[in-house]
Amino acid sequence: MSCLLTQNPIAPSSYTGFLQYSSRRNPDVSDIPELNEPPLKKFYEAYYQPEHGRVHDKKPFKLKCVKGKTYYWCVCGWSHDQPLCDGKCVLPEMKIKLKPVAFKPVVTREYWFCNCKQTKNRPFCDGSHLSEAVQGGTSVIRR
Ligand code: FES
Repeated sequence: MSCLLTQNPIAPSSYTGFLQYSSRRNPDVSDIPELNEPPLKKFYEAYYQPEHGRVHDKKPFKLKCVKGKTYYWCVCGWSHDQPLCDGKCVLPEMKIKLKPVAFKPVVTREYWFCNCKQTKNRPFCDGSHLSEAVQGGTSVIRR
């Protein structure tokens, strides 16, 4: 899986790229740290993109991520490298306004990435794919 982007086009220069996990905010999800306060919310304009991308799949995608490496999660749903961005959103002819969300893990492990693109906890699955709108609608992957 590769990403054509070598730089995050939307990250402010002040971004430090670290995640701070906390299990104190919601004890019910303490085993799933990415479901607590979205760790990169304050760093990324992607959180202020109110639109959601097209539904690529009606379920999340588990991906092993390596500590310190930066991953760009596809927001628009047009990437062929799901759940990651393949750079399609920066092609002018695609006219895609949504830009990817960067994720830089502090531990190497598997993460559940949203692949329906409707999550409110970008880039992770928050269960939004279970909604009637997603399950009853169309997706790129039909199963
Ligand atoms: S796959 Fe999008 S919220 Fe679960």
